[in-house]
Parts: sequence; C-alpha cells; structure tokens
Amino acid sequence: MSVVLTSIEGAVATVTVNRPEALNAINTDVLNALEQAFAEVEANPQVRAGVLTGAGTKAFVAGADIKAMQAFGAEEARAFSAHGHRVFALMEQSRLVWIAAVEGFCLGGGCELAMAADWINASAKSKFGQPEVNLGLIPGFGGTIRLVRRVGQAKALELCATAEMVRGEEALRIGLANALYEPGEVLVKTQEQAALIASKGSLAVANAKRVIRAGADLPAERGNAFEQQAFGIQFGTADGQEGMAAFVEKRRAGFTGK
Ligand code: CAA
Repeated sequence: MSVVLTSIEGAVATVTVNRPEALNAINTDVLNALEQAFAEVEANPQVRAGVLTGAGTKAFVAGADIKAMQAFGAEEARAFSAHGHRVFALMEQSRLVWIAAVEGFCLGGGCELAMAADWINASAKSKFGQPEVNLGLIPGFGGTIRLVRRVGQAKALELCATAEMVRGEEALRIGLANALYEPGEVLVKTQEQAALIASKGSLAVANAKRVIRAGADLPAERGNAFEQQAFGIQFGTADGQEGMAAFVEKRRAGFTGK
C-alpha cells in the first residue's frame, strides 16, 4: 500500500498521508510520494481544489519520523529539512487552494505540513503542537516561519519552547485553524468546502491566492501594485467576462477556467 493516496471526486483531489501504524509520520518515502502526488494533481486539468489529510482518526500526522531521523547526522538532517521545505512549498506555489483536514494529533512536521496548506479545518478533538524541543530538536519543515505568520511571534515561540499541545478550539482562537468541526466530520466538510471553491472561476481563485500569498511577504506599496496588475489580468479572461455577464443577465455563470 502506498504511503500517500490520491483520490479525485469531481473537481476535488484528496491527498492522504497513509502510514496509520506510525500515526502518519513523515519519512523520505512520504516526502517523495507527496511530491509525486502534488505534481500529478497540479497537472490534472479536471482538478480545481485540493484537500490534504491523514489516514485514520487518531492523527493527521504526528511529525517527522523520529525512528528514521535517529540515524541522521547534521548534514543528513539538513538535507531532510530541505527536502520537506521543497515538497511542502508545492502547495503554496500551486494554482489550487489546498485545505488541510485535521483529525487527532497534528504535531511537529505534521503541524508544519498542515500550515503549508492554504488553511486548516480541524476537529474539536484535534491536538496541535511543535513538540520538537522534547526531542532536543527544533521544527525543520518550515514551522518556525509559517507558525509565526499564522499566530504571531510570541505565541509561536511559546508553542515551540514549551512543546505544549493546544486543542482544536484553542487552535481556532489563535488563528492556527480556520474552522472547527465535530470529530469524524472534518474530511467531508472540507471536501464540501473544496467543491464550493471548485465551482468558482478557477483562474480568479488561483490569481487571488497568488496575490494574497505574495502580498503577505511584500511591503504594502508593492503588494498593492501587484493586486492592481492581477485585477487587470482577470478582465482579459473568459471567466471574468462570463462572471460579469451572468450577473447582469441574472443567470448562473458557466466558468470554463479560461
Ligand atoms: N515518528 C515515528 N513514529 C511515530 C511518531 C513519529 N513522529 N509518532 C508516533 N509514532 C509511532 C509510535 O512509535 C508507535 O509505533 P510503535 O507501536 O511501533 O512503537 C505508533 O506510532 C503509535 O504511537 P504511540 O504508541 O506513541 O501512541 P500514543 O497514543 O501513546 O501517543 C503521541 C501519541 C502523543 C502522538 C506520540 O506518538 C508522540 O508523542 N509522537 C511523537 C510526536 C513528536 O514528537 N512529533 C515531532 C517529531 S520531530 C519533527 O517533526 C521534526 C520536524 O519538524 C521536521
């Protein structure tokens, strides 16, 4: 059985980390399989939104694989970190909105994987944390950077320095999760949300994602200029013309992604 599964339902792809016996811990095989899955989904014109999840209800992903990392020296650890960074960034760079559907433990490299998605939907019983200091380590898959952007510097350091886990409700309160659902319902609710996104003009969704993601790292002046350019681009698309015409003609828009 593959360590990463991909299923496509309508216009929604669901990518599942599938090592439930190890709480879906991330090793090199998982990184390679995720890389392949993201590339295949990206290249599939049928797909217009992505969901990322973990197999089973006990864990989304309980971190990088500690048993595999135990044999690493400094250089192997640096290369493993770089590999994770490169693969996780594929979701950020994607034309698709990616949503992480989190049930159970979402720890260390698992929390970092979820944060690399565009947002996180969580179960009320989920548990988030960056427990690397318990192992004498620090986050290595982008946690120090992405967590700061989600929850602010002080809360990010508090989570990394104490290794304390926060439940779904607290994750929602601090901005780590976007939405909370009943245990067992997160995946279905997230797939429904992804289907809603897939029903919109896909070029517009991709353009909004591009501008918002780039804008977060730009000074406001350059971000505003980038938005103006991107706004103009939408008017040269068939979807932009169709969406406005449909509103004026009081009918449902038929978007083609062109
Ligand atoms: N790596 C490897 N195996 C893991 C794992 C991990 N991160 N997390 C869980 N497992 C394995 C356990 O070893 C166990 O397997 P065996 O039965 O073969 O020993 C199986 O999954 C079930 O786990 P537990 O028996 O420990 O389950 P539990 O309910 O008692 O505890 C838990 C659950 C609290 C999540 C606990 O498993 C745990 O603390 N896991 C490690 C969490 C962690 O430290 N994550 C950070 C890893 S470092 C990292 O991610 C670095 C980075 O940023 C790149």
